[in-house]
Parts: sequence; C-alpha cells; structure tokens
Amino acid sequence: MDLRDNDKKLKNILKENFNLDIATVHQLVGYANLNYKVTDTIGNKYICKELPATRFNKELIAAESTILRQLAESQPGFYQKSLRARNNEFLCEDSYINGPVIFRVLSWLDGIFFKETNHTPDLLKSFGQSLARMDLELKKTASIVIRARQIEWDLQYFLNLQGKLNHISDPSLRKMVYYFFIQFKEFVFPELPHLRKSIIHNDANDWNVLVQDGKVSGMIDFGDMVYAPLIQELAVALTYSMFRKDDPLKWAAYIIAGYHEILPLEEKELELLYYLIAARLSMSVILSSEGIQNNPENEYLLISQKPAWDLLNKWIAISPDMAEKKFKEAAGISVPEKSDIQKDLEKRHHFVSKVLSVSYDKPVKMKRAAFQYMFDADGNTFLDAYNNIPHVGHQHPKVVEAGQRQMALLNTNTRYLYDQLAAYAEKLLAKFPTPLNKVFFVNSGSAASDLAIRMAQTYTSKQNIVVMEHGYHGHTRLGVDISHYKFSSMGGAGQKDYILKAPIPDTYRGEFREKNAGARYADQLNDLLKPAEGQIAAFIAEPIVGCGGQVPLAPGYLKEVYPMIQKQGGVCISDEVQTGFGRIGTHFWGFEAQEVIPDIVVLGKPMGNGHPIGAVVTTDEIANSFDNGMEFFSSFGGNPVSCEIGMAVLDVIEEEQLQQNALETGNYFSKLLCDLQNQYPVIGDIRGSGLFLGVEFIKDPDTLEPNTELAQFLKNKLRENFILVSTDGPYDSVIKMKPPMCFNKFNSDEVVGMVEKLLKTC
Ligand SMILES: Cc1ncc(COP(=O)(O)O)c(C=O)c1O
Repeated sequence: MDLRDNDKKLKNILKENFNLDIATVHQLVGYANLNYKVTDTIGNKYICKELPATRFNKELIAAESTILRQLAESQPGFYQKSLRARNNEFLCEDSYINGPVIFRVLSWLDGIFFKETNHTPDLLKSFGQSLARMDLELKKTASIVIRARQIEWDLQYFLNLQGKLNHISDPSLRKMVYYFFIQFKEFVFPELPHLRKSIIHNDANDWNVLVQDGKVSGMIDFGDMVYAPLIQELAVALTYSMFRKDDPLKWAAYIIAGYHEILPLEEKELELLYYLIAARLSMSVILSSEGIQNNPENEYLLISQKPAWDLLNKWIAISPDMAEKKFKEAAGISVPEKSDIQKDLEKRHHFVSKVLSVSYDKPVKMKRAAFQYMFDADGNTFLDAYNNIPHVGHQHPKVVEAGQRQMALLNTNTRYLYDQLAAYAEKLLAKFPTPLNKVFFVNSGSAASDLAIRMAQTYTSKQNIVVMEHGYHGHTRLGVDISHYKFSSMGGAGQKDYILKAPIPDTYRGEFREKNAGARYADQLNDLLKPAEGQIAAFIAEPIVGCGGQVPLAPGYLKEVYPMIQKQGGVCISDEVQTGFGRIGTHFWGFEAQEVIPDIVVLGKPMGNGHPIGAVVTTDEIANSFDNGMEFFSSFGGNPVSCEIGMAVLDVIEEEQLQQNALETGNYFSKLLCDLQNQYPVIGDIRGSGLFLGVEFIKDPDTLEPNTELAQFLKNKLRENFILVSTDGPYDSVIKMKPPMCFNKFNSDEVVGMVEKLLKTC
C-alpha cells in the first residue's frame, strides 16, 4: 500500500467518525506519536493524532479533552479544541495500517513557534502572563486520571532518574547533573509536601508555545499534564526560554514578572526555582542521553541536547542565591540586604584570634561552591583559580555522596576491622612505585609531616633534619621547626640546632641560574652538609616549593641530593601535600618529575577534597622500624568515612582524567601567561607545572627587584573582579594559581584576560 492509499484510508476514517471532508493529509514530525496536519475541502485545518489503542490512552484523551474544552471556554482561540466523534467520545478506534489504533482530532491554531520567533522583553512577559492565566484555569479543573498519573517528565519525581545517570557517558558532564541531584535532594525534596499543587501543562517548551504579533497567542500539546507543584510549570517554561541567552536570569525575570502579575508566586516557590530549572535541564539531558544510547543513529537527539548542556554549564556558575534574588526582584518581593562584612569580621575576632588571617583587602564571605566556582553570601560568583584543597572540584557530588553514605552507615576507628581501610590503602598505594608500600593515615598535612619526621628519626636513630629554604610543612611544633618559611619570618623562633637549611635551587632568583643547575645546587648542599655527615636523619622538600613562590627545584637536583642523604644514613622525604594527585600534569607525584623515589611521602590537602585526611607513605622497612612497641593511633586517621572519601577522590581523578586536564589546561594557561609576559616586562617569571603555577612580578629585569606592590594590587583587583588568586614567596611578589583540577581553558582565558586588562591600567 503506498502513501496515497494510507491518506485515503485516513480520510475515510475521519469522514466516517468525525464527519470531516478532508482534502489533504500531511504527516508532521513528532516526538513520540504520529501527527498529521489535515485540511478539509473548505480550507479548515486540523491536527489528527494517531496513538496506540490502549485503555490508558483512551482515558487520558478523555481527561485531556475535557480539560481543553474548559480552557477553551476561558480564552477562546488560545487552546485547541478536541473534536467529538460520532460515538460522542473525543476519539475513534480503527484498524489503520498495522492494527488497531485510536485517532483524535484537534482544531488548528495559527501562529509561529516561540522557538522560531524573535524574543523581546514584551514577548517573554506575555508568555508569563499567558502561562499564569492557563494555570489559574487549570487550578479549577479536576481529573482523577491526571491526578493519578506518574510520568518521568515530572520534576517532583526527578530523584527517580538518578539510576539513569550513567546514560551520560562523559564523566565531566555527568558530574554536573549528579551535583544537581544532590542539590535537589537537599533543598527541594523536603519542601515538596509543602508546595501548592495543581494540574499543570508541564511542557511549556519553546515548541509548544505559539506567538502572533509579538505576543503569546496559544499553548498546545497537553499530553504531559500532571498534578504537581504549581511552580514546576514556570520552571519548565523558564528553562527553554533561557536557551541560547547570554544572560539567562535577565530573560527569566521577564517571564516571572508577567506570571506573578496574574498569579502571585509564593516566596518558597521562588526559592526553589533555581533547583527546579536545574532539574529540568538534567532530566532533559539524561532522557535524551538514554535515547541516544538506545538509538545511536539519531543525530537529532545529539543536536537537541546542545542548548541544554550549554545552559547547564552556565547554570552551574550561577549562585542559587543570585538566582533567588533576581527571581524575587522580578516578582517585587524584597530581598535581604547585602552582607555586612565589617560586622562579620568583628564577630569573628570576638571569638577567634586575629592570628588567623583573612585574604584580600576586602574579605570575602563565602556561602557555597560548585566545582571551580565559589559563591559569596551576596550571590556573586568567583572563579576559583587558587584553591587546591577541593582538588576534584568544590562539592564534587561523588565525594559528597561517598561521605554522606558512609557517615550514615559507620564511622569508627582503626582499632576495629572494616573493609574501607585496607581497600583505600590498596588503592592509594597502587599509585606509588614499589618500595613505597605502607601507609599511615592521619588528618592533616601537618600531622603527616610531623609523623614522617618522627619515623625518619626512629628509623635512622639520628636527629638532624635538612630542610628547604622557604619550605613549609606544617603548623605543629615540629612542623614549624622544619619550615624555614615559618621559623625565619616574623614571630619565628629561628633555626633550631638540629635543623640544617638547604639553599633553594631556584634557577630564576637563586645563585645558579642556568636551566640545569640542579647538580650545582646539589654540590653546594653537599659542601654545606659535610660537617654533619653521618648525623642526618632526613631531608625534606617539596618538588615545587609552594610557599617559596611556586619554585620548581632545579632539574636534576633531587637525583643528586637523595643518594647523598641516603649514603650517609638518612632518608628522603617528599612533601606532596601541594604537588601530589596529578596536579603537576606530567606525573601523578611531584617526585616523579625529578626521577627519584623518596623513602617517605607526606600527603594532605587534595586527598579528601576538603575532608581532613593526611597520610604518610613509606617502605616496609621504615614502617617496621616504627613498630617498636609504642602504639601508633590516630583517632580519626583512616576512619571509614575518610577512606570512602579518599577512594572517591581517586576515582574522580581517574574517571575525569584530571591529571591530563591539568597538563593540557596548565600548558594552555602558561602559554597565555607567557604571551602576556612578552608585552609586560613586569612579569619576571612564569613557572610551575600543570595546574600549579606561579607568576613572579618584578620592577626591573636586570636587578629582579621584586614588585610586591603590583602583585598585591593584582590579587586584590582580581578579587574585585571575582577571580580568586593568592600571593606568596619571600617578597610576596608571586601570584599563585592552583585551581580545582576541573579548571578549563575558558577559565584560563578569563583569568589572563582580566590580568591583561588590569595591567593596562597600571
Ligand atoms: C607543602 C605543605 N605541607 C604541609 C602542609 C600542612 O598541611 P595542613 O595545613 O593540612 O596541616 C601544607 C599546608 O599548607 C603545605 O602546603
């Protein structure tokens, strides 16, 4: 049977059942069902829908048609009418091409799709008004069929979709959706029972809204109606209206203003809108990803995902508080005053010592964060180019959920057996070269370096420790003893007798400036250590000296120094608190870049993504010597919650290929900075590796006189422009950048673009 025969058959069906004299039949592209545009002999147009002949569909059509009739009475011409068939129902049943189906006929509405028209503030406002008028009318309707209906595309059941998260194959995209699941669970789910509910259209997307003369003129497709929190209606409408907009909140505000004028919104509803929009976007990408997996050839699904992903990427960088503020302002609801930083500082200093510093001339009060973005108490978004503790990204959902899950199950200490301790130890140790096969868990980098030194002294029965100039390893008494950065600066008690200081092998500012000066610096150290030969317990250094201003140890340095220390009976400790876990891009650990294997490794910061975990990794031999009768016990070290979190961090680093990202983004970032250096001689040096970078500012390229003022100016100006960096180094003239490892090239452009803009003003 060819197409014309099908058309003839359809015409007959429509004549027989709806008494329509159809002249032309035109099949439309539909999402799920078959739709036809049909025109009768006098030019009237209709939509004819063909559906499977199930009892459910019949009941649904009856319910929907009754509601449509009611709506059409309230606003004639705005809604389609459902035509009654001869059987007095809103449908007929027939055997068409492949068996029994049902047909229904709806009147035709003229207009351009909202998606295909030019968006203006007036149009968006009229959209809000129309939506509210529809919702006012829908509130009056009652249908047990719609009330009982449960469909996937209903935001109140969003959490049910979490099991489908893995349909999103790219982990870097999946994490955003996962993040919004957790946000929904925390902020929306508990409020659901308290929200006013109604029958809603539930699919006011840009293909279901018609426009004429710059105003919304009709709403179509009531096939997704559900009984749900009213605010979901607006959430769906806003989602699609914000596609392809540079400033989505601005456009959302027009719709909200229009809606609120007709149907006043409640504060609580406006507070949840941000999360509901995120949920609708997430739902859309999950379900279309499922569609793509089931039907990989369907290019349309892939293309149609793009605007949703684009908006999700923008949405993640918008503070929920800022969205709430803008939504409330649009509805004329008063918003809280700006936070009073002075008052907050006073309260803090009343209870907490001023010895805890606060960054920036204008301190920032943080409230929440997502990946590489931090949000202050006023809803401003900061691009975080500085914080390396949230290694895999602030509030990474995998880490959050690992902690939450285990905290709800068991948290105890290492005096009991539980699976997580050995499992995490195994996973972590797999990242180390062979001789490093024992781990001791603690709760901070300080505790780890303290323990590492104690272990070295126990193992060697020697006391002296060689430390790196400008190095920092911790705040404990021992930590300060081994931190030149602390003991030699203001308030420091000076160098202790058992401490020997190695000059920093800095090829930019140090004594030997040739590129491969490592061996020369090692020789220099060798000479310095001669008098203490045989009495050195340990040498401790970071591969890139963070507090020294991100100074990489001169190439080849550790390769010479390690054997020198070991030969006279000492051990070598690498502090990987800053440089570990893939941050330097080229290697997982900083010591690998120097082609050495330490005897002891100190870990901290990134290990728990902000959860306090530290560790000492060492060899069997050293670990055995420490097992000398005195128990080692850390109340929190290695507890099951910490272990689960630590495992999640390692998983994310692997899954999202963050070491690779650090390498690629870091190289890109450095290149941009080097290009800037060519224009601005005040940039003396750009150094570091991967996403562990330092930019040193100078006054004079000949003398390398430090330009502390400029570094401070830039740090504070960047902060005013919502970019977080810090300064360090002996002259505080180095801008340090060590962002969360999901930092991307676009973020690098933002930072360098702003630095350039600021340098132009100097
Ligand atoms: C290299 C290095 N080691 C050790 C520490 C101490 O770690 P924590 O602050 O967790 O005690 C730090 C902290 O900044 C560090 O940078």
